[in-house]
Amino acid sequence: MSLNFFNISYDKKDLEPFLSVETLEFHHEKHHRAYFDNLSKLIVGTELEDKSLEEIILFSFSKKEMKSIYNNAAQVFNHDFYFKSLKKNIKPSDGFLKIIDNSFGSWSDFKEEFKTKALAQFGSGWTWLVVNDNKLDIVSTSNADNPLTLGMKPLMTIDVWEHAYYIDYRNVRGDYISALLDNLIDWVFVESNYELVD
Ligand SMILES: [Fe+2]
Repeated sequence: MSLNFFNISYDKKDLEPFLSVETLEFHHEKHHRAYFDNLSKLIVGTELEDKSLEEIILFSFSKKEMKSIYNNAAQVFNHDFYFKSLKKNIKPSDGFLKIIDNSFGSWSDFKEEFKTKALAQFGSGWTWLVVNDNKLDIVSTSNADNPLTLGMKPLMTIDVWEHAYYIDYRNVRGDYISALLDNLIDWVFVESNYELVD
């Protein structure tokens, strides 16, 4: 499995004060590392070894005997996508703000809907900004699930597993979501994913 799905382009301290070095040490270097290493071991020498990460996810999805491969592959994708969704002090372009306004009513309506859906996700999971049927939408997925298997194109995600926020925000998931939406989303990454959509 390519290290492109593990490496991040910033230093662990670059997300402070919104996410601490300690959180990155656990979340990136231990949780994400474990999924990455598990997947690499599970696929070595199998027919999946030369497939893309997205192909592995779609192939193993809903195959009972491949549950472990699916969970680890999806968590590698989700974490890589999450860490690439983060950067401090990046603002959306005027053009993308207009698309947000047209899709959700306003910037604050977008943030409110994202936060509401992230808080409504019971237990572990992910909340995503996606393109679904050529429209922007916000969806949550449980555990390792992601929008790829739903036929949606992800633009960005926030990890709502407790391990993502417990060190910095304890049990207050809403404060974590607000802090990231206000300060830590790499809108250049989001918009580049949007431009890739046909
Ligand atoms: Fe996580």
